[in-house]
Amino acid sequence: MARREHHDGRALMASGVTVAFGGFKALTNVTLSITPGAVHGLIGPNGAGKTTMVNVLTGFQAPTTGAVTLGGRDVGNLPAHALRRSGVARTFQAGRLFAGLDVLDNLAVTGVGLGHSRRASEAEAMRVLDWMEATHLAHLPAAGLPYTDERRVGIARALMFAPDFLLLDEPAAGMSETEAAELATLITRVAAELGTGVLLIEHNVGLVLSVSHHVYVLDAGQVIEEGDADVILSSARVRDAYLGADQEAA
Ligand SMILES: Nc1ncnc2c1ncn2[C@@H]1O[C@H](COP(=O)(O)OP(=O)(O)O)[C@@H](O)[C@H]1O
Ligand SMILES: [Mg+2]
Repeated sequence: MARREHHDGRALMASGVTVAFGGFKALTNVTLSITPGAVHGLIGPNGAGKTTMVNVLTGFQAPTTGAVTLGGRDVGNLPAHALRRSGVARTFQAGRLFAGLDVLDNLAVTGVGLGHSRRASEAEAMRVLDWMEATHLAHLPAAGLPYTDERRVGIARALMFAPDFLLLDEPAAGMSETEAAELATLITRVAAELGTGVLLIEHNVGLVLSVSHHVYVLDAGQVIEEGDADVILSSARVRDAYLGADQEAA
């Protein structure tokens, strides 16, 4: 697949974003940016606001206050399909494939939704599957796919027509260590070979730290730390957030 050429300033950015559900703030004054060609991690305990952040950055949730910009343009109130057409793609925690269609058609449907012809969409689907070394999945029904293949198809679908940004919400959930390592390689390739800016949400903190250039840590809706793996690993605030949460430290 062709590598997309990017220009500086084509970042996807949240500035001072707060999301309130009634009186409850899922996010408070969050600022983060995703730049082309790099992997960004987003970690934090359950309920920290990670999925809400992805929803805000992809048009599934409007910020209550604050701004979302794409290459400097305010996109905070664009609906999800418009953001996808502008080059912001995502996966979901649950696969959300069309069970009655085969893999190729699952991908092609996305292309048609983006305004491409059926023929062009099928050709793009085969290009994406080929790039992922997954052409053997093309004619299998989505319904019967093993779990990890379902995940990979979700990513393939998000990569249709070379989005500038790819947001992955817990793509390694339920995978073995080996499968997670393969996924890490794929994520690295997406950024390095396609020039896509990736935001990776994962419970598997080791996976995130191993592939991310920059990591944000959310706790109770706020960014409590950001930086490279060394910064995150040596942060007392991060340690406290994980140990303080009523769960096993990930
Ligand atoms: N639509 C919603 N309405 C009310 N509360 C919500 C909604 N979506 C998420 N929340 C709450 O916001 C908090 C953050 O949720 P979420 O973003 O899913 O966290 P994470 O992905 O980090 O586990 C949680 O307390 C969750 O219950
Ligand atoms: Mg979540």
